[in-house]
Order: sequence, then C-alpha cells, then structure tokens
Amino acid sequence: MKKKILAVYFSQTGQLRNVVDAIVGPLSAENDVEVVYEELKPKKAFPFPWQLDRFLGVMPESVLGIPCEIEPVSVDQDEPFDLILIAYQPWYLSPSLPLRAFFSDPAAPKLLSGKPVLTVGGSRNMWVRAHQDLIGLVNEAGGRPVGNISLCDTAPNMLSAVTIVRWMMTGKRDRFLWIFPPAGISEAELRRASRFAPLIGSSLLSGRFDGLRQDLINAQAVKVNPELAILEERIKFVFRLWARFIRAKGAPGDPARLGRIRFFKCYLIFMLYLVFPVVNLSLKTFNAFRRGSIQKRIAEIQAR
Ligand SMILES: Cc1cc2nc3c(=O)[nH]c(=O)nc-3n(C[C@H](O)[C@H](O)[C@H](O)COP(=O)(O)O)c2cc1C
Repeated sequence: MKKKILAVYFSQTGQLRNVVDAIVGPLSAENDVEVVYEELKPKKAFPFPWQLDRFLGVMPESVLGIPCEIEPVSVDQDEPFDLILIAYQPWYLSPSLPLRAFFSDPAAPKLLSGKPVLTVGGSRNMWVRAHQDLIGLVNEAGGRPVGNISLCDTAPNMLSAVTIVRWMMTGKRDRFLWIFPPAGISEAELRRASRFAPLIGSSLLSGRFDGLRQDLINAQAVKVNPELAILEERIKFVFRLWARFIRAKGAPGDPARLGRIRFFKCYLIFMLYLVFPVVNLSLKTFNAFRRGSIQKRIAEIQAR
C-alpha cells in the first residue's frame, strides 16, 4: 500500500521548501510514497526582504514562543499519515513564528498524536536551541520524534554572519566582494541531501523507525558545532531578558517598542561582529582540552 508523508513547513525565501524537496523528492520519484505538503501561511505576511526594524521586531515573540496568527491548517486531519515531517528554521534561536503557530492550531495534536515525526532544519548554523524547543512542542502534541536532519550554511561563521544579513535585508544571496560566498544552504549541500531518502524510505516501508535516528547520524545528517552550541545556550538566556524588556513596551507593531528594539540592534551588532568571534575562538581553544565532555555533549544533541 502507498505510504504517505505529511510535510509541514513555512518558508519565506523558498530555501526550506528546497531542503524538504531535496530529501523527500527522490522518495516520491522512485518509491510508492506520496508526499502531502502543508504550507503554513501567516495571516499577516512577513514581507521579504526584511526592513531592519521589522527583522529585529520579531525577536521578542520568537524567543518567548508567542506565535503569530496563521491560516487554519488545511490538510485532512483524519488522513492516516505514516510519517510527519516537520521542517523548521530558527528565528533568534527559536522555532520561527509561523511554525510555532502550527503547534497552537487544534490540528497539530490530531495530526501528530502517536505518529513518528522527523524534523528537518534549514538554517544559517545556529539551530540547536530552536530544535530543542521544537522537540518539546512535538512531544506536547503527542508526536514521537524519530530523527533529525539539519542542513546549514557551511561557510565560515564570520562570513555567513555577513551574507545572511545582506540576504535578509536586500534579497541578494549571490557571491560578492570576492571573499563572501553565496548566502544560505549551497546547491551542493542540497544535492547531497538525497542520501537521506533511502534511509527514510526503508523505515517507511518496514514501518519501523527505531533505527532511523542512528542511520541519519551515521549519514552526517546532524553535524554539531560544539562552540556554537555552547554559545547558543548563553545567547538564548540573554535574548530572553531582552525579549521581556521590549515586550514590556507593548505587543508587535506598537511604536512604543521601537526605542528598545533599536537599543537591541546596537547590542546585537556589537555581540555578533566583535564579541562572538573572540568567545568562539577561546571556546575552540578551551574545548581542545576537554574532548571527552564535548563528544558527550554532541551525542546528547544528536540524540534529541
Ligand atoms: C528573523 C530571523 C531570525 C533568524 N535567526 C536565525 C538563527 O537564530 N539561527 C540561524 O541559524 N539562522 C537564523 N535565521 C536564518 C533562518 O533560519 C533561515 O535560514 C532563513 O531565514 C531562510 O529560511 P526560509 O526557508 O524561511 O526562507 C534567521 C532568519 C530570520 C528571518
């Protein structure tokens, strides 16, 4: 009998949809597998490219997990899906607002309850905290996380910190000034993602998902940068303080927030381009002397 995957996603630029297609495309092409897409549509669109104040303005609600409004989920909730694929992109180290909103829709527990759930990420390179929150949401909805695939921009952190901002603010993601590579997940990385399809396919056909997580880890689906993972923990803590500070001035769109949002902008620029690179380098040096505990931490993240 034909196996059915439900792929739930939101994508502003189309990148995350490309990631999903790269992974499940070969399955629907070669096997008896049907993929049903549920695209999450915010009631009030997030226009792309972003304008800087709006880009910074979604931080408080992203970090505090306060969802935006989305159109009702349209897929038939009684359809017996064999696997639910939840695609995610981090916004400020948290699941993006439209994805967060999916879990507030009454359809989410109906669709996920008792079902194997595969999470698929498309980010710059800081996805660990967002994924941890996502797994919490999947568990709350009664889903059974069976594995994770996280594709990232593989350019060095300092270069992608520049190219992502240019891409988000102007819509331009091409190579520029010789040293800056194209922004986002590369074409080569997308092509290589087809290697995950047979692993998912064999779990789907056998109906057994217990080995999928390890198969995916073995296929390098979850590469963890330990320095960035440590940084994420600290940054998320500070983001939460900023988020409450900004929200004390009002809800999204309230002009009273603008002063504090701009104050946050100064903090972010200072941290992103001056402090993080130094901390990152010191963590790398320090981590070289505690390989055992770092390997343990990586294994913990991969096991989520
Ligand atoms: C508001 C905002 C915040 C973001 N925060 C992060 C982040 O914390 N970590 C990260 O790796 N990427 C971050 N990104 C990049 C996104 O995860 C994603 O890769 C990019 O927006 C393209 O996704 P799309 O498929 O929605 O177009 C952020 C993007 C936006 C728009």
